[in-house]
Amino acid sequence: MTPEGSLLAAEGLSKAYGPTPALDGADFSVHPGEVVAVMGPSGSGKSTLLHCLAGIVAPDRGTVRYGPHTLTGLTDAQRSALRRTDFGFVFQFGQLVPELTCLENVALPLRLNGTRRKDAERQARDWLEQLEVEGAAGQRPGEISGGQGQRVAVARALATRPRVIFADEPTGALDSLNGERVLTLLTNAARDTNAAVVLVTHEARVAAYSDREIVVRDGRVKDMAGRI
Ligand SMILES: Nc1ncnc2c1ncn2[C@@H]1O[C@H](COP(=O)(O)OP(=O)(O)O)[C@@H](O)[C@H]1O
Ligand SMILES: [Mg+2]
Repeated sequence: MTPEGSLLAAEGLSKAYGPTPALDGADFSVHPGEVVAVMGPSGSGKSTLLHCLAGIVAPDRGTVRYGPHTLTGLTDAQRSALRRTDFGFVFQFGQLVPELTCLENVALPLRLNGTRRKDAERQARDWLEQLEVEGAAGQRPGEISGGQGQRVAVARALATRPRVIFADEPTGALDSLNGERVLTLLTNAARDTNAAVVLVTHEARVAAYSDREIVVRDGRVKDMAGRI
């Protein structure tokens, strides 16, 4: 059963790497504008779940539905196009392009979607401001701190106004103060644009940022019963 009103929903996802099951019948759904925190021990299948949901990895079994689309039924080219327009990604290490300035990094996905340079750079500057890192606009990723880099990475992920943002331990390399700040900025910006967020995190205070928490264990998804 696909949960009513969901934007992205997966049913019975299984994926094995050789003899290792990474996912083993995982179900998932997220509503428009909802922030779902994904927790669970290392190796439990969290990253594989995100990759299947985003259409980066094809599951061995199960389906992923995004709006009217069934991701597994699309061609690679269709899936890539959808990822570029509708999904945004933030990883543990920002994976910014080192040769480009921070402004150019944020403008890049807009340029790839056909936005003119001037408009792309104006929008990129606004996003850097919103993420409180406008001072880094002219600097290259190697010249800024990890916390600043993650803010730039969040700005880049949000720039195309994606419907879903996937964030895989985006604050894993930051101290807790910087980590909390980045999560606050990310989730606030996502709420402003009504984007859904699928956030893998180990932050202790994640309940403050998320609408719902799930736990992945041995490749399966468990809903958290209530909040602490
Ligand atoms: N590309 C891969 N090749 C081989 N094994 C993998 C690959 N990706 C993940 N795995 C294995 O699948 C399991 C789940 O991994 P992963 O989804 O990365 O977990 P998590 O993100 O929760 O740490 C682990 O046992 C991991 O070693
Ligand atoms: Mg992982």
